[in-house]
Amino acid sequence: MRVAIASDHGGFEQKEQLVTYLKDELGCEVTDFGTTSEESVDYPDYAEPVARAVASGEADRGILVCGTGIGMALAADKVPGVRASSITRPDFAQLFRQHNNGNVICLSGRFITLEENEEIVKVFLTTEFEGGRHAQRVAKIAKLDEAK
Ligand code: RB5
Repeated sequence: MRVAIASDHGGFEQKEQLVTYLKDELGCEVTDFGTTSEESVDYPDYAEPVARAVASGEADRGILVCGTGIGMALAADKVPGVRASSITRPDFAQLFRQHNNGNVICLSGRFITLEENEEIVKVFLTTEFEGGRHAQRVAKIAKLDEAK
């Protein structure tokens, strides 16, 4: 699976460790859009390239890490075709895939442990969309993109 990933300074440390986890444990092809240090940066600048890579099909899924995951989700969701959410529990990651066909997950580097985030990422990357009644709801989200 092709995964695009990025963080701001609040998520930098965990992002670095998640890149290793994605490559070594999950066998993913990873594109890392930064940041490259703990120097303060603006999270929308890092959410955008990941969101655009997913929306264009260049990446299958996106992973963003900031202090809470919230700012990244707000920014990434502005890109048409992206369904991004802050996720702090593995069961929410499962439902985000099964029901929402989520394609960008936004993690907290400050309030959730690396081990918990690794589990969330694994569930996010291995759970399929259920389709069925959920497909019409996701299609209605896409219509909101068209109305922009
Ligand atoms: C940066 O201090 C912090 O605001 C950011 O990482 C994120 O939590 C925003 O939602």
